Amino acid sequence: MLRYHALMAMPSRLLSVTRTLCSAALKFDGAVSMVQGASRGIGLEFVKQLLENNDKGHVVATCRNPNGSTGLINLKDRFAERLSILQLDVTMENSIEATARSIKETYGRLNLLINASGILSIPEVLQPETTLSKVEKSSLMLAYEVNAVGPILVIKHMWPLLKVGGGYGTEKDVAVVASLSARVGSIGDNRLGGWHSYRSSKTALNQLTKTISVEFARKKDPIACILLHPGTVDTDLSRPYQRNVPQDKLFTKEFSAQKLLSTINNVKRHDNGKFFAWDGQEIPW
Ligand SMILES: NC(=O)c1ccc[n+]([C@@H]2O[C@H](COP(=O)([O-])OP(=O)(O)OC[C@H]3O[C@@H](n4cnc5c(N)ncnc54)[C@H](OP(=O)(O)O)[C@@H]3O)[C@@H](O)[C@H]2O)c1
Repeated sequence: MLRYHALMAMPSRLLSVTRTLCSAALKFDGAVSMVQGASRGIGLEFVKQLLENNDKGHVVATCRNPNGSTGLINLKDRFAERLSILQLDVTMENSIEATARSIKETYGRLNLLINASGILSIPEVLQPETTLSKVEKSSLMLAYEVNAVGPILVIKHMWPLLKVGGGYGTEKDVAVVASLSARVGSIGDNRLGGWHSYRSSKTALNQLTKTISVEFARKKDPIACILLHPGTVDTDLSRPYQRNVPQDKLFTKEFSAQKLLSTINNVKRHDNGKFFAWDGQEIPW
């Protein structure tokens, strides 16, 4: 809390901004986290662990169809006071703007933003390509729109709300933005080829995130923007492609989310713009 004489020494415009932030922040002691892409899979597991592991933390979970996510509805029954569920489709920018307005009105800030949404395949619409001859313009554009453009627009609209105090607690000196990428998005690590649309959409997400991180650093904005590879995780996304994955390399969503939250919680300012695997190791671009 700011002391009285410190408030009196402030210019009036800054004072009114500070009063607004203080009055909003006063209602909520703990960190305010947003998980985008929270209906199922790793995103839903992030919401669960953030709520279970921090009894003061508030979580805003967003998804395309809140009424269709039984996982989120069950969590709302358990954590009615600390969980908000909002509708957001990353391909609809007005839904992103509406979410930012709602968070501003209710909480006044965000300490942690996780972009967990993503697509790899959609029956009859999008299939991971095995050869150049299967590459279609529509698949490339769809993967870029959902996996690269969408998460960046989310960061753009949440940026004014991002304040220090990320991770589980409120002790950090940076707000954290973590987007789920994939190791296959690494150009340096590309030895197998294939999956042109998904792979290159994650590469685009990586470059856009790196570019944002440079701007945050240049403006001395205390935000650490990172990319995370969750490992191969047993979810709807990976299920059709798990046949050749050794059992010990196929993670549960509980294990992966726990490892990623541990990395998020340990993020320091100098980690801004880095790409980490589930075990905390940096991945080459
Ligand atoms: N699972 C893995 O092995 C693996 C490996 C590497 C990277 N990843 C990345 O990790 C992230 C999470 O994957 P997952 O395995 O949890 O996948 P998942 O179980 O298929 O969940 C994907 C999530 O993305 C959401 N989504 C899709 N399109 C959206 C849109 N237009 N707007 C908002 N949300 C949208 C889905 O919502 P709906 O329910 O509405 O469809 C769902 O909540 C993804 O970015 C993925 O690329 C996963």
